[in-house]
Amino acid sequence: MKSIAIFSGKGGVGKTSFSILLASWLSYHMKERVFAYDFESPEQRMMNKRKADLHTLEAKSSMLAKMCEGLEPYPIGAIRPAANGYTSQELDIIERNFRKARSSGDGYIICDFPGRFGAQEAVYRLSAAGLIDLMAFPVVPEEQSVQSMFIINKFLSNPKFYLVPDYRQQVMCFWNMVTRNDSGKRSKTDIMGQYEKLFSMLHIPVSPTRIRFVDTMKRSSGQSFFVTTTVCYPRAFVARAFPPLDNGDVPYIENLFQEMKDRLDGIIKPEIYNP
Ligand SMILES: Nc1ncnc2c1ncn2[C@@H]1O[C@H](COP(=O)(O)OP(=O)(O)OP(=O)(O)O)[C@@H](O)[C@H]1O
Ligand SMILES: [Mg+2]
Repeated sequence: MKSIAIFSGKGGVGKTSFSILLASWLSYHMKERVFAYDFESPEQRMMNKRKADLHTLEAKSSMLAKMCEGLEPYPIGAIRPAANGYTSQELDIIERNFRKARSSGDGYIICDFPGRFGAQEAVYRLSAAGLIDLMAFPVVPEEQSVQSMFIINKFLSNPKFYLVPDYRQQVMCFWNMVTRNDSGKRSKTDIMGQYEKLFSMLHIPVSPTRIRFVDTMKRSSGQSFFVTTTVCYPRAFVARAFPPLDNGDVPYIENLFQEMKDRLDGIIKPEIYNP
């Protein structure tokens, strides 16, 4: 198996939502073997989401139950760390779990890391052991979130982080919660373009897929649970929730999933803008 770590220097940028969507797309739509790993602490949102999803199924919620027919939920692993972060014994167990999963055949391990607390040690440990193949960073187009990319750059420069000779193969970022320019608001696209130049100076490739701000994910709609379910991948709903942005040149969310998969499978190599 190959592993994708969803990581960021800031909280609330969409890591958990995105990890669940990606894991469910790979498992239920692409029929790949998936093992999800929840590093989120103390909330463990992925694990909690799974519990809630199974509960909904038990309650025989008709639509979700129908969509899940015949599907086997992918496993979600987690180790709840002590208050000060993982102990070295816990890190040993995590590393062992990853080695075991990776040598068990094809498939993908999706790791949801939290935005705060000492998850860094787990990332350092796994990367130093060569057990992370791709690190993906969601970035929200706001000043704080963009600044966090500089924290990530520092993180990537830490000697504890294992860098393959061309580490650009191992990292990528993508824009999340891009505001749609349909309410007279000024588009942030120009500013984002400027930031993309900065990222490229840090040698961090940016995906061309920009994920729009989706109101349904804010639970403002009764259907919000469809978007991030760990027990199925409701493609038609996701297509409605994540259409391309208005300017037409921004592809749909599955292009981003495919881009990650292709990068892991060695089909595409990132091109970096060279200022
Ligand atoms: N594209 C989007 N459009 C609208 N809302 C979104 C989008 N992506 C995420 N959200 C919402 O933003 C909030 C934070 O998302 P999420 O929990 O996935 O972030 P996170 O990075 O995992 O946060 P944390 O650092 O707390 O783990 C959630 O309420 C989620 O539904
Ligand atoms: Mg999270």
